Amino acid sequence: MSASSPWDADRYEGKHSYVWQFGASLVDLLAPQPGERILDVGCGTGHLTAEIVARGADVVGIDSSPDMLGQARQNYPALTFALADVTTVQFPERFDAVFSNAVLHWVKDAEGAVSSMAAALRPGGRFVAEFGGKGNIAVIRTALRQVLGDAVDEGCPWTFPSIGDYSSLLEKHGLEVREAWLFDRPTPVEGENAMEDWLQMFARSYFEGLSPAAVKQKMAEVVARLHPALYRNGVWTLDYRRLRVAAIRR
Ligand code: BEZ
Repeated sequence: MSASSPWDADRYEGKHSYVWQFGASLVDLLAPQPGERILDVGCGTGHLTAEIVARGADVVGIDSSPDMLGQARQNYPALTFALADVTTVQFPERFDAVFSNAVLHWVKDAEGAVSSMAAALRPGGRFVAEFGGKGNIAVIRTALRQVLGDAVDEGCPWTFPSIGDYSSLLEKHGLEVREAWLFDRPTPVEGENAMEDWLQMFARSYFEGLSPAAVKQKMAEVVARLHPALYRNGVWTLDYRRLRVAAIRR
């Protein structure tokens, strides 16, 4: 996963495994062919990289988190992983496809990322990605704003583009959009404390600068506000919305 925050690879492997489990259908959309060279951007702990390798492709997985990469190397010692920032990374050889699951919403410099990914593709190469799209976690963000104030949006660590905005960016960098979808993916998460766990894992930056006691209290307030909307039949369900896109390098 591409982000500057220190990732907790153990949690990502366990309670948050839905992040990569949902990505299996994206690998089908990628349709990797034996012998193809594929770049997996934000490979996290390497499960989807391994899935693509299992289809016969040669894959390089990159991630900006040393923790995630450490776990990926432990999980799959025979695969190729590299520590890299997608906004600046360069490769001596081009790839047949660039793949990315559940990561690009963490890259605030979306144009830098698109520019690097486009440059990494050979003409005719495929770009297949899925990440948080416009309206993603709208309910969660509203609760964060209500508890912490409007100013927290200035430090928002995510970008959730619309189909129109992201397609324009891809086209600007020589990628022809073939298909794009924006769709709701209500995502159930395990456990009574799942909402607080999610905030701890993914929204920590919103609480920076507060004392540990204040963090606990503010998180509890956020969770209480979310309860009526996101806790149903004994299960917390995240209001995820995905942008999925398939494009070809001209
Ligand atoms: C997402 O996958 O949509 C997401 C994950 C963590 C934080 C924000 C969004």
